[in-house]
Amino acid sequence: MAQAYDPYTNVIHTMTKAMEIGHIDQSMFEILKNPQRETKVYLPIEMDDGSVRVFEGYRVQHSNIRGPFKGGIRYHQTCDLNEVKALATWMTLKCAVADIPYGGAKGGIQVDPGTLSERELRRLTRRYTFAIAPIIGADTDIPAPDVNTNPQTMAWVLDTYSQLKGHPCPGVVTGKPVELGGSRGRNSATGRGVVISAKLLLALEGKTLEGTTVAIQGMGNVGANAARIFYHRKAKVIAISDVSGGLYCEEGLDIDAISLYLNQGGKLLKDYGAPGVTHITNEEVLTCKCDVLVPAALENQITEANAGKLQCGCIVEAANGPTTEGADDVLEKRGITLIPDIFANSGGVIVSYFEWVQNIQELTWERDQVNEMLEKLMSKSFQELLNVTEECHCNFRMAAYIVALRKLVFAEKMKGIFP
Ligand SMILES: NC(=O)c1ccc[n+]([C@@H]2O[C@H](COP(=O)([O-])OP(=O)(O)OC[C@H]3O[C@@H](n4cnc5c(N)ncnc54)[C@H](O)[C@@H]3O)[C@@H](O)[C@H]2O)c1
Repeated sequence: MAQAYDPYTNVIHTMTKAMEIGHIDQSMFEILKNPQRETKVYLPIEMDDGSVRVFEGYRVQHSNIRGPFKGGIRYHQTCDLNEVKALATWMTLKCAVADIPYGGAKGGIQVDPGTLSERELRRLTRRYTFAIAPIIGADTDIPAPDVNTNPQTMAWVLDTYSQLKGHPCPGVVTGKPVELGGSRGRNSATGRGVVISAKLLLALEGKTLEGTTVAIQGMGNVGANAARIFYHRKAKVIAISDVSGGLYCEEGLDIDAISLYLNQGGKLLKDYGAPGVTHITNEEVLTCKCDVLVPAALENQITEANAGKLQCGCIVEAANGPTTEGADDVLEKRGITLIPDIFANSGGVIVSYFEWVQNIQELTWERDQVNEMLEKLMSKSFQELLNVTEECHCNFRMAAYIVALRKLVFAEKMKGIFP
């Protein structure tokens, strides 16, 4: 029987493999296998009907060896400490790949936010921020949005933290509204980075985005922005999905029309209709014939059970951990190139870094400047990954882990062990 999926075991196995393939000094590896701090908080909330519920929240700080802890906050009914630990570890690796001066962290609350009113969500966010306030801060740990959280959530985090400190603290959180010190380009940055990743990969084969067929699982912040940017760069987005199901159109979906529909709020793809558009299942989105497959929802979507059925030319991992270790092996055997999450979705944390720099310096940058710098940074790290694939005869996932672990081990050795 296949083992139950465990994202933390997954990331540790992949790190272990990369240490061997990259011939990396093992002396500091034990440190990197464990987070520096795990925090679990219980959050009592008065519901709108007067009843009291207690929610479980987490903040895992994996490493601050290269800079302050950095990572998003997720609201999801299946979120647990183990998942947050894996996500925090991926953040450490991601920031090292991107070569930005951050470590890695992640937070979450076990809650289905769809079942809460906006007032309840606001109270929950404020109570969670209060509970983790002693361990976050602009120069210690900087949260950001993730699944089911957004600029509004970040505005509540920012306000709660600033109230506690008695002065505005814009640098404590990124992904906040531009009006509250957010960066232009941050909201679409993760999706933009996904498109940049696809463009860089296609260029290796002399191809461009124009006419490339794309299938995207997940139409949230990352998936919807990636879809919009692919569409405007003349790629053909033929399939998309959200939690309710998928849409397909061989000629390419009208992403602008679909975005307009979704932006009305509370809308699901299962209720969308347009001439030439058919409804398909989520699984069919993953297995449809396309040039680029973009999983942009949750972990554990491309598994040993469906990896053999995929008909894509390549995969660009927009979500964190969408592909299991077993699936990686199948894809490698099938010659399907995969651009891993810790590079492909790094656009979000890179522009979060730009936002934080603007906050600290009390400056604001233009959108074009932000987008240009994002593309420049990602192109530079892509080249670094490419060099390692050649040096170590490995795939892009291994190369990304090797690049990250080399930097982290070097930093650990330079600092030495305290005391
Ligand atoms: N927001 C960011 O800046 C950011 C940055 C880096 C990585 N990520 C990762 O990207 C992924 C998506 O994050 P997001 O911020 O877009 O979240 P989101 O909450 O904005 O959107 C999630 C989307 O996935 C869909 N979804 C949920 N379960 C699904 C399922 N079983 N099948 C198909 N679709 C499903 C939802 O309907 C929604 O459209 C996550 O793995 C997250 O960790 C996000």
